[in-house]
Amino acid sequence: MSITQYLTEEHRKCDTYYAEAEKAVSQGEWEKAKELFNTFKEKTLLHFRKEEDVLFPEFEQRTGIVMGPTQVMRMEHDQARQLLERMEQALQNQNKDEFLSLGESLMILLQQHNMKEEQILYPMSDQNLDSESMVVKMSELGEV
Ligand SMILES: [Fe+2]
Ligand SMILES: [Fe+2]
Repeated sequence: MSITQYLTEEHRKCDTYYAEAEKAVSQGEWEKAKELFNTFKEKTLLHFRKEEDVLFPEFEQRTGIVMGPTQVMRMEHDQARQLLERMEQALQNQNKDEFLSLGESLMILLQQHNMKEEQILYPMSDQNLDSESMVVKMSELGEV
């Protein structure tokens, strides 16, 4: 399996986890929402770790491109992590409007972020890295 296939699939799964959490929040099912949001958050953070701890360092080493796309991706992960924290807070306060508005910001951020990875960073990684062993290493961190 290619790096592109493997990580693109994870983006799709995270989108689905968010859609489920969002639905529960919209319906005011707070206990269910907390559980579903937690899954979305944990899986998203795991996906980020696979990129930050396995893919990006190898990409930088193999291509010599250190101050390029990987730096931008790390910054965007930080922005996403901040939004996730604020969403968790909104959820604890049962503040539906706040949660949904933060969620919308996060989805816009991630849509653009994921597109850059899927169209540029992942294909470049498949070209320059040993895809099979990268997928094995990332899988060892857990399943999204
Ligand atoms: Fe990413
Ligand atoms: Fe990603």
